[in-house]
Formats: sequence, C-alpha cells, structure tokens
Amino acid sequence: MKILVTGGAGFIGANFVRMVLDEHKDVSLVNLDKLTYAGNLENLTGYLDRPNHTFVKGDICDVDLVKKLLDEHSIDRIVNFAAESHVDRSIISHAEFVRTNVEGTLSLLQAARDRNIERFLQVSTDEVYGSLGPQGQFTENSVIEPNSPYSASKASADHFVRAFGHTFGLRYNITRCSNNYGPYQFPEKMIPLMIHNAMHDKPLPVYGDGLNVRDWLYVYDHCTAIWAVLTKSRPGEVYNIGGCNEKTNLDVVSLILDQLKKPKSLISFVKDRPGHDRRYAIDASKTMNQLGWKPSITFEQGIVRTIQWYCDNRDWLANVASGDYKHYYEMMYSRR
Ligand code: NAD
Ligand code: TYD
Repeated sequence: MKILVTGGAGFIGANFVRMVLDEHKDVSLVNLDKLTYAGNLENLTGYLDRPNHTFVKGDICDVDLVKKLLDEHSIDRIVNFAAESHVDRSIISHAEFVRTNVEGTLSLLQAARDRNIERFLQVSTDEVYGSLGPQGQFTENSVIEPNSPYSASKASADHFVRAFGHTFGLRYNITRCSNNYGPYQFPEKMIPLMIHNAMHDKPLPVYGDGLNVRDWLYVYDHCTAIWAVLTKSRPGEVYNIGGCNEKTNLDVVSLILDQLKKPKSLISFVKDRPGHDRRYAIDASKTMNQLGWKPSITFEQGIVRTIQWYCDNRDWLANVASGDYKHYYEMMYSRR
C-alpha cells in the first residue's frame, strides 16, 4: 500500500505517520506538509530517514505537485489531515481556512479523481454537526450545522468529498472524530495550553463558565480508527470516531492541576469564545460494530500519559512556545 498523507507534520498527522511506520512495515508513505506554524519536523524525529517515508514540503492547493507525487510514487490511497485546525484563529481571520480546508481539499479531490485513486480518506471533525444540548450524541446521520468558521470550512470540504463520490465515482470515506489529545499537540489547543501554563505557574484561562463539554479521544486511538477505515471499510461511508469520554473543561483543567500538584487558584475565568459550542458527544457505534475498532485507553489513563509526555519533552514544548507562539498568546489572551 502506498499512501499520500497530507499534514503529516502536524499533531494527528505525525502521530499517524509514526503509528503506520511502526506497525505496518509493508506500507510506504509520502508526507506532504506546508509546515505552517502548526507543522513541525520535530514531531517526526527518528522517522524522517525511514526508507519507506518521503517528506515533501509543499501545499495541498498545488494540484500539479499533488499529481506529480501521485504519479512518481504510484500512490493508491490519500489520507487528508492537512488543515487550519484552530477555532479561535478562525474567528479572527478566515481566509486561510477557506484556502486550505476547502480549496486544498478540492485540489486533492481533483488529483485523486484524475489518477483514479483507490481510496480518498477525508479526516473531518464532529464539529461539523454543530452543538448539542444536555442530551443525545452525534450520529453519522445528524444534520450538518457548523457554527464556527473552522467547522464551516470543514463541513464544506466534506460536501465536496461526497459530491466527488456522487458525481465522479470517487471512492471515499469521511471520518468525524471528537477532540483529540496526546503527544505533539500544539499548545494553542486547550489540553497542551493548560499543561504548559500549569507547568510554568501561569493562569489557566477557562472560557466562560467552564462547563462546555468535549468528548476526548487519545490521539493514538484516532489513528487506529483511521487505519481501520482505510483498510476495512466500504467506500462512500462516513464514520464517527469517539471514546465516550465526555468532560467539562473545568473537570479537565482540575485533573491537570491535580496531576501536576498545582493549586486550583491558577484557574482564571476569562471572556467566552464567540459562538462557543456547548457540548459535543459522539456515537461511534457504527465504527466499532462494522470495523471492530475500539479505543485502547480511558481518558483517565490517557491524560496521565499525556501530562507525563509534556513533562518529559520540555525542550519540544519550549521550542514550540518560543517565537510566534508568544505573540499569538499575547494577542489572544492579554485583554481577555
Ligand atoms: P494541526 O493544526 O496540528 O496540523 C495541521 C497540519 O497541516 C500542519 O502540519 C500544517 O503544516 C499542515 N498544513 C496546513 N495547511 C497546509 C497546506 N495548505 N498544505 C499542506 N499542509 C498544510 O491539526 P491536527 O490537530 O493534527 O488536525 C489534523 C486534522 O484532523 C485536521 O483536518 C482537523 O480538522 C482534524 N481533526 C482534528 C481534531 C483535533 O482534536 N485536533 C479532531 C477531529 C478532527
Ligand atoms: P480547543 O482545544 O480549542 O478545541 P475545540 O474548540 O475545537 O473543541 O478547546 C476545547 C475546549 O476548551 C473548548 O470548549 C474551548 C475551551 N478552551 C478554554 O476554555 N480555554 C482555552 O484557552 C482554550 C484554547 C480552549
């Protein structure tokens, strides 16, 4: 199997590349990543020189480059992780979200159609379904009701993927996963941001009342689910991925502080995110029943492992948190 992975220097993409190269020795990967602020070759330390891994710095919007890679490497599958992925950034500026998430996906779809690729897997998100009240879970049949510019761009991409299947017979899957956490996550996202701040005795900025709910999944378990979809599913199917780990943000932050033996007084309630989705919860029974997938660890195990990883990899965190991140943090939180 020869796979083009896009966004493989980001958080989930790098974890996927590592998992595949470790566990599926007969697979070759071409990893196309633009190395935006979120892409980091340090996430691939020890994996860049593997003979079955070719890293290419480039843009998924460059359809000629994508076609060239498909031809040169005889690619049969594409897994599209590349995206602008942070809701808060999408509220401040939208253009890059449309460019990469919508136009970039379209460019990949055109190349996949023209080269008759065996399978196109679009890595999407549960956020395309919008927000839940206190009850219920998102199923694959839930209405698509994105609320943020980020989720609107991902929903748009999902519609293009489906349309290419319907119109051109492209063999595709779409996966919609809940919030991920684990090693190599950029500290703009809640869990690594809170771990980083707690480690440095800085305030932990909790939006609004802190009672928004997210359904957390350890990143490795997302990667095994994507692998199951890529290798076991029928084309044209959508799969929800999640681990039934609903937590309020306050619960998560409290757990992080307890684990790091830091005081709760570090919690600082700040102005809420505009349009903040209240609750996400995923029904992943289709993925579990049809593909035999299940998460390998609970949230309580995963969060301890994750905090330990950030403590053991202070250099990684320090490198990421220097430079542009300082500017971003100042802009986003100083007047909140
Ligand atoms: P990330 O921001 O950590 O990484 C994105 C990667 O894409 C980076 O390496 C970046 O350099 C690359 N990239 C951005 N624009 C590009 C372009 N135009 N061409 C090539 N590469 C480009 O994101 P992540 O958290 O790893 O998310 C990966 C995917 O999973 C995204 O599609 C996201 O929507 C989806 N997803 C994320 C979560 C989550 O909790 N993080 C949950 C569900 C789904
Ligand atoms: P985030 O990691 O940005 O993921 P998403 O918005 O895609 O779910 O945020 C997770 C939750 O944490 C969300 O409810 C917003 C909240 N949050 C904070 O309370 N403070 C923060 O500094 C951040 C980044 C997020």
